[in-house]
Amino acid sequence: MGKSFDIGLERLTGTGAPETEALEASDQGTQAGVPVPQGSTFYLETFGCQMNDHDSEKVAGVLLARGYRQVDGPEAAKVILYNTCSIREKAAQKVFSRLGELRPAEERNGKSFNTEDTEEEHRGHGEENGALSRSAQARVPVPQEPKHPSQRKIVNAGGGKIIGVLGCVAQQEGEGIFERAPWVSLVCGSASYRKLPQLIAELEAGNRRVTGLDTDTDETFETEITRRDNPWRAYLTIIEGCDKACSYCVVPFTRGPERSRASASILEEVRRLAEAGYSEVQLLGQTVNSYADPSARKMRFSELLAAVAEVRGIRRVRFTTSHPRDFGKDIVEAIEAHPTICDHVHLPVQSGSTAVLRAMARTYSREEYLEKIGLIKAARRPISITTDMIVGFPGETEKDFEETLTLLDEVQYDSVFAFKYSPRPNTPSLKMADAIPEEEKGRRLAILMDRQREIQRVKNERLVGETFEVLVDGKSRRENQWSGHTSSNRVMNFTSPERELLGDYVQVKVVSAMPNSLVGEMIGWA
Ligand code: 5AD
Ligand code: SF4
Repeated sequence: MGKSFDIGLERLTGTGAPETEALEASDQGTQAGVPVPQGSTFYLETFGCQMNDHDSEKVAGVLLARGYRQVDGPEAAKVILYNTCSIREKAAQKVFSRLGELRPAEERNGKSFNTEDTEEEHRGHGEENGALSRSAQARVPVPQEPKHPSQRKIVNAGGGKIIGVLGCVAQQEGEGIFERAPWVSLVCGSASYRKLPQLIAELEAGNRRVTGLDTDTDETFETEITRRDNPWRAYLTIIEGCDKACSYCVVPFTRGPERSRASASILEEVRRLAEAGYSEVQLLGQTVNSYADPSARKMRFSELLAAVAEVRGIRRVRFTTSHPRDFGKDIVEAIEAHPTICDHVHLPVQSGSTAVLRAMARTYSREEYLEKIGLIKAARRPISITTDMIVGFPGETEKDFEETLTLLDEVQYDSVFAFKYSPRPNTPSLKMADAIPEEEKGRRLAILMDRQREIQRVKNERLVGETFEVLVDGKSRRENQWSGHTSSNRVMNFTSPERELLGDYVQVKVVSAMPNSLVGEMIGWA
């Protein structure tokens, strides 16, 4: 999917299989307005989370509807777009390194741009106490050249190319991007995507620079056509933005306030997706379970889940990410009542220490979080639980960290995404005392990962001999080797002599286990 992972991210679960291309609805047909020059092409690269992946699917849909054709490299593209992530500093830096690669030749020969920022990058997070001054943090450094020039082609942004920065870095840096990379012509944050068709039309009409940076909108980003990357799993954003105010997080600044989509429109789209052959839908939102139906129907999140699960043709419903504060028994009851709702809840905890949770403004204590876990564990069928954790938050003592480790033991997560704390612009935690040195963050991350790996090894080994339903989404180059996901979102690599299985649901018996995946053999159809 052209997706880049953040360096700070450690993922213990295996990743999905290669994704093939699927196009929902027609990929042609120019909309009313400015005619698109024949042969217009775009390249779109996405960084960050599933929300960004899905936003990119919709952005691609908007461009395809205008008559553009998607190409797989910036060299051949008339329009080059980066959909960016700024959740951690390294992710934000990536876009500026990409933009450096696009610098027009005339700019390369002249004075280098933003030397001051480049120095900041060298100081970066490697500082001994790990603390960054506000001024150093407030602007993301711009490398003068890509990190690995030997591996990346330099594309000349001259020659009439349109270069756009979308997403969280666009929202965060705003028009400052034009100053630092004057060859950029479009800067648009995700809360303004509904304006994208209009902004693109303005560029086509000859405007040199356009921006979409408002976050004060009640609307969500709906498109006529979404160019979906996965032929079986369809993403669907049901709530955009975030009203929580976790002290470390840029999302409330970059994605704006929470806006939910009307339940009838969501259900209508799910029905269309099912008719188009998608069997799995994943409901998305930064805090998906804070969904608040804006229509008179006032469906609760758990009711919406149930209604989606009842759509004919839908075999799997996933949802991510849930916030512990809004996670209640009704969600577990919906899962129990509907076998099509997957046996998996992603419930980010961030820390096992109540003191750190308070400093993070997470709105729950360790004990309150454990009560929610208790609800999930008491369900009539086993539900796998995964989480996000941050190590090295300012002021995190050795004892606090120890509590995060004991939480791992207590909950027995099926998978953990763990991150080193990264100070972000505008966030309250930026000013907090007692920053943890980078090296110490790294040490804590490694300890956490080791502990969790062992938990997963033991848990997965207990599954040997069990049979799971698997949606097949990958085929290995090795003969008879396939891969897919269980309802609990475990990766299953398995053998089968069948000739074609992609997109099928099959029964697989587990023969051996690893910390991040299971190995099995197909025993029948599901
Ligand atoms: N530093 C490190 N990790 C962060 N996350 C969010 N903000 C930061 C930050 N400033 C992590 C949280 C969140 C996940 C998507 O990213 O764990 O759940
Ligand atoms: Fe960020 Fe907290 Fe909102 Fe999640 S709930 S997006 S961590 S502010």
